[in-house]
Amino acid sequence: MANFRTFFLPLILSFLFSSLVSATFYQTISPTLLRSQEKLTHIRFYFHELITNEKPSLIIIDPPKVMSNSPLPFGSLVVIEDPLTIGPDVESKRVGKAQGFYLSATQRPGLDLEIVMGMTLTFLEGEFNGSSLSVLGRNEIINPVREMPIIGGTGAFRFARGYVLARSVKVDYHKGDATVEYNVYVYHYSSTTSSSHDCFNEGLQFMTDPILSKI
Ligand SMILES: *[C@@H]1O[C@H](CO)[C@@H](O)[C@H](O)[C@H]1NC(C)=O
Repeated sequence: MANFRTFFLPLILSFLFSSLVSATFYQTISPTLLRSQEKLTHIRFYFHELITNEKPSLIIIDPPKVMSNSPLPFGSLVVIEDPLTIGPDVESKRVGKAQGFYLSATQRPGLDLEIVMGMTLTFLEGEFNGSSLSVLGRNEIINPVREMPIIGGTGAFRFARGYVLARSVKVDYHKGDATVEYNVYVYHYSSTTSSSHDCFNEGLQFMTDPILSKI
């Protein structure tokens, strides 16, 4: 017994300790945990910027003090919560919302706006209800069609990658109201069920192993 205590126990403990520490902070998990194939989805909706609304869908934060004939001088920051609808009419069925910001990122004067947009597109209807896409990219408004990358997503759009094409349908440069058609092309996985949640939550339990918290 004395031998066991003095020799084996420290050995076992040090082995346990080192394996716990190295094993609990990361692990490789099988991609098959997603239990589904990657698929490509096309989504089309209309994005509305409503400045003249009673309740505007965007606000401009602290416009920079520069002389400019641009409606959005270099450095302007706009925060948006814009409705997404199924058709070009703002009164058509609402399918989601765009939340985020854009920055005026060119010093060129005039209406030739060049912005950098960062936003989440959250769906509130159908198969993608509750899921969101993250978009971050450059948007040169004067171009008829602008492309921005999809850099990720949540829910049905976990591991998303793809792009959006934004095409202005109606723009009132004086009022600032605009309707933009968005065509989204996104690779993602079919699984949105709680089963994939459970699979990935195992990682969390693993990392909060009660033995580790005692060390
Ligand atoms: C979308 O999901 C929310 C939250 O789960 C739910 O309350 C709402 O009824 C759903 N909408 C539709 C159209 O399914």
